[in-house]
Amino acid sequence: MIAGRISYRNFRNIESADIEFSPGVNVLIGNNAEGKTNALEGIYLMASGKSFRTPRERDMVRFGEDYFEVSLTMQDAERQQELFFKAYSAETGKRRECRKNGVSLPRISELIGVFRAVLFCPEQLAIVKDGPAERRSFLDIAICQLRPVYLKSLQRFNKILTQRNALLKQLSEGFGETSLLEVYSEQLARESALIYKTRYEYVTRLDMSVKKFFCELADGGDENPHEVPELRYKNSLKTYERLGEMEAYEHYLKLLCENTSREIGAGITLYGSHKDDIEIYLDGREARQFASQGQQRSLALAMKLGEGEISMEYSGEYPVFLFDDVLSELDPRRQRFLLSQLGSRQVIMTTCTPPPVESDAKFIDVEGGLYWDK
Ligand SMILES: Nc1ncnc2c1ncn2[C@@H]1O[C@H](COP(=O)(O)OP(=O)(O)OP(=O)(O)O)[C@@H](O)[C@H]1O
Ligand SMILES: [Mg+2]
Repeated sequence: MIAGRISYRNFRNIESADIEFSPGVNVLIGNNAEGKTNALEGIYLMASGKSFRTPRERDMVRFGEDYFEVSLTMQDAERQQELFFKAYSAETGKRRECRKNGVSLPRISELIGVFRAVLFCPEQLAIVKDGPAERRSFLDIAICQLRPVYLKSLQRFNKILTQRNALLKQLSEGFGETSLLEVYSEQLARESALIYKTRYEYVTRLDMSVKKFFCELADGGDENPHEVPELRYKNSLKTYERLGEMEAYEHYLKLLCENTSREIGAGITLYGSHKDDIEIYLDGREARQFASQGQQRSLALAMKLGEGEISMEYSGEYPVFLFDDVLSELDPRRQRFLLSQLGSRQVIMTTCTPPPVESDAKFIDVEGGLYWDK
């Protein structure tokens, strides 16, 4: 999948601009606050239907203007497609418009998956460093793009969890229907088992990719790598063994049924998919605690490259890789890998300083929301 050309109008600090990308590596280069991340935000918007920086579309409207527009010409294995996104400031009271090949899309969900992109920005170090919620969110965003069934299951799970928690709270305060709890437990166990199965498969596959990419980043693909990462799927079932969906369901149900009084005491659901995590190890030690800043960054980057690899296996095409400000944090070997060893993948990255390593990337100068080829 290739982003060919993008046009912006009134988008953040960009009054009006067009950027042409090469199918290989593209480097947006410029000083702070010139509009590098803004450009990436616009590209990511076309992939995910939302910003990675703000939940409010109106924040992306250029100060003092009524609307913004972004249009992207992209090429997938079959054909060239045009995507268009327009949103308005709060004052206008107008609804956003999305179009694919000139045809209006009634729901934003119909945009998702047409153009696929994997984003890596400095904040994403959180997937290694921060709490389990960050890693669950990483998993969910990655899997939802590939499997709509998973998204449905996740939505049902969250609904049941909210209802079950509300009931447990009532029960802890001395009222509420105990028999209803059994119904919720059964439903929660069913969804948890489905989510378990999908997450288990994903993390197992991701572990393979992370091992490969981490080794290439750190050791240039050495046959005897110095440091070996490992990802493990942690869940309420307290085993790393792969269980069948039915078996997982029975285990979840047993946990929920046998711990009713504990849960009523706590007033909250203690077992299920909302407790899952990915344990990340480097040479057998927890990366969150023991890995260096650079190692953590390489792990997070390897996870993102792995996400792209799995997406390619599913769809037959690589997503576009968007790297915001990653070069400055990496040593020359790792920079070289990103700049020249990602083969047929399209990469669009940003940086403030020219990379100290050779590269035949396309360089694009960024100044005050304007973009031109170097
Ligand atoms: N809605 C908006 N309208 C106009 N300008 C905006 C809007 N939102 C943000 N900006 C401005 O856009 C400018 C560029 O932001 P951007 O995040 O793209 O910079 P950058 O080139 O990535 O810089 P850095 O290297 O510091 O990350 C900032 O000065 C910011 O104030
Ligand atoms: Mg930036």
